[in-house]
This record gives sequence, C-alpha cells and structure tokens, in this order.
Amino acid sequence: MGFLSSTFPTLVVLLYLLACAASGQLSANFYSTTCPNVQTIVRSAMAQAVAKEPRMGASILRLFFHDCFVNGCDGSILLDDTPTFTGEKSAGPNANSARGFDVIDTIKSQVEAACNATVSCADILALAARDGVKLLGGPTWTVRLGRRDARTASQSAANSNLPGPGSSLSTLISMFSNKGLSARYMTALSGAHTIGQAQCQFFRGRITGGDTNINASFAAVRQQTCPKTGGDSNLAPIDVQSPIMFDNAYYQNLVGQRGLFHSDQELFSGGSQDSLVRLYSTNGAKFAADFAKAMAKLGNLSPLTETNGEVRLNCRKVN
Ligand code: HEM
Ligand SMILES: *[C@@H]1O[C@H](CO)[C@@H](O)[C@H](O)[C@H]1NC(C)=O
Ligand SMILES: *[C@@H]1O[C@H](CO)[C@@H](O)[C@H](O)[C@H]1NC(C)=O
Repeated sequence: MGFLSSTFPTLVVLLYLLACAASGQLSANFYSTTCPNVQTIVRSAMAQAVAKEPRMGASILRLFFHDCFVNGCDGSILLDDTPTFTGEKSAGPNANSARGFDVIDTIKSQVEAACNATVSCADILALAARDGVKLLGGPTWTVRLGRRDARTASQSAANSNLPGPGSSLSTLISMFSNKGLSARYMTALSGAHTIGQAQCQFFRGRITGGDTNINASFAAVRQQTCPKTGGDSNLAPIDVQSPIMFDNAYYQNLVGQRGLFHSDQELFSGGSQDSLVRLYSTNGAKFAADFAKAMAKLGNLSPLTETNGEVRLNCRKVN
C-alpha cells in the first residue's frame, strides 16, 4: 500500500513525460534543469539590443517568421553560406534584407557561457522574437522549447514558401494555409508589420501609381524618399503612425488605405479579411490576444526534436 501510494503518482508523471518526449513535442520547461537561466539571458540581451536600436525587435521577429516558414522552426535561416553550401540567407526574401544575425550570435555566446551545448539556436530565436515584441509594447506568450537545429537549409524552399510584397489576398491565404495557418491567423500575424522598416524597392510599385486603393497624401509622403527610380534600399516605416510601438495602428492604416505593401492593403480591399481588419483596428486587445496565439502556433511548425538535428554551438554553421 505504502509502495503503491508513493510510487503510483511517480509512475504517472514518468509515463506522461515519456509520452511527451516520444511524440516529439515541445514543452515550456524543457531547459528548466539543464539551463534554468536561458530565458533571463535572452530577455536581457534583447533588452540591450532593442534599447540600442528599437528596430531590432522587428528584425528578430521577421527572422523567426522566415525561419519557421521554411521547413519549420529549425534555425536554418541562421546558417551562413559557404563555398560548398548555399542556404537561406542568400534567398530572395532574405538577401540584403534579413537582419539581426549578430544579435542572435551575441545571445548564443552568452547562453553557451552559461550552459554549454544545451540550448538550440532555433529556441533562442523563438525566445528572442517573443521578447522583442514585448519590449516594444506588444503582448507576450509562453514559448514552448526543445527545438533542435537543422544540419541543412533550403534556398529553394525559402524562395517558394515566403510571401512577397506584391502577393494577392488569395496567394497570402494559400501560402499560410500550406503551413496549416488559417486566414484569420494570417491576418493576425501580418500585424507584425506594426513595427519595423522596409526598403523602397518593396513598395515602390504601390506608391507610384501601381495601386488605386491608396491614400493620396500617404503616397505623396512615401514618394519623397522612394522615387520612381533609384533609392531602392531607402527605408520607410511599415507603420506610418508608430513604427517602434507594437500596437494595432497597422490595421488602422489599412482601413485608411495607408498599407505600405500591396500585400498589406490586400487584407482590406473588399475581401474576406475586411471585417477582421476592422475589428483589430478598433480592438487592440483582441489583436494582441490573437497575435500571441498565432505566434505560439507559428513556433510549433515542424520542429526537429529529440535525436533529430543537433544543438549547434555556433548558429552560423553546423557542428
Ligand atoms: C503576410 C505576408 C508577408 C509579406 C508579403 C511580408 C513582406 C515583408 C517585406 C517585403 C518586408 C520588408 C523587408 C525589407 O525591406 O528588407 C517585411 C518586413 C517585416 N516583416 Fe513581413 N511580410 C509578411 C508577413 C510577416 C509576418 C507573418 C511577420 C512576423 C510574424 C512579419 C514581420 C516583419 C517585420 C517585423 C518586418 C520589419 C523588419 C525590420 O525592420 O527589419 N512579416 N515583410
Ligand atoms: C562545449 O561543448 C562542446 C561539445 O560538447 C565542446 O566541444 C566544447 O569544447 C565546449 N566548450 C566549452 C567552452 O566548454
Ligand atoms: C489620408 O490619411 C490622412 C492621415 O495620414 C487623413 O488625414 C486623410 O483623411 C486621409 N485621406 C483620405 C481620403 O482618406
């Protein structure tokens, strides 16, 4: 009796833990014994990076999206090209555009100093993205951990799986649906464009006559630094109202036809997402809650777990 009453609960817990591990799932407490301070380390490094340059919160968030959408959240975007390997960094959607790799390196070296060869680059990126959003005034969520790092990357998948700024609503919906994310999740995740900057080359068409559903005074302002020719890499805030504040102004912009990318404005152009955009534009709390839920789902895309992949020692190269 004594044996049963003391052993049975232990057995149940053990079986539960085994079941979780066996199904390759992520868990919030994955590093609680092996690297208990990892979340504190990532958080304070991100606080420093964002204090130095607020845009970094946006850049890291985008890196995470581009990691997860290409064969899952496996740190593949962090691998440098080598003479014998062409990865995702040089893919169309990332080349001369994805940024923040040095911040991930800094965090990784601090995490390595505390817990050698334990925490994956993929998990560091997931935590850093969450912290960047929070630091800019956005919501927070629990990041489940235990992702392992890919030993390879796919430039062709990066080129074909990531949506471009000229995408139509139906293309956006189908590209997210290919990843198991509904149109509603797509519209919520697009609210990430409430922070960060974009290069002229990605929105020139829309502001110089390509789109009719654009606020004329907004277009005129953007044309000042994004002319018809030249200035391809000139930057503009994606959210004209509050580019370093994670709020719902992105949706207010869409309702006022001040979306920066053609793809942004597609979410409010007489189609299926109009009512949701209107809702988010007036209900910041609803947007924040849906965004947090969608980010958790984005972070669960096809992780490598258990003995798959590896824990990279340097995020830029395989061990
Ligand atoms: C829905 C389809 C999407 C398209 C077509 C798209 C496209 C783009 C483009 C073209 C840029 C500008 C890059 C540059 O100028 O170098 C950008 C920036 C950005 N994107 Fe997206 N994106 C999409 C969805 C997302 C999602 C789901 C997230 C995150 C959850 C995200 C987060 C960001 C952030 C934060 C920036 C600013 C980055 C910075 O300032 O460094 N985007 N996006
Ligand atoms: C960290 O661990 C790796 C692999 O176990 C080992 O090669 C490396 O020497 C260790 N580094 C330090 C600083 O302990
Ligand atoms: C265009 O946007 C500005 C704010 O930037 C707003 O004051 C104006 O009313 C808008 N114009 C139209 C036609 O919606």
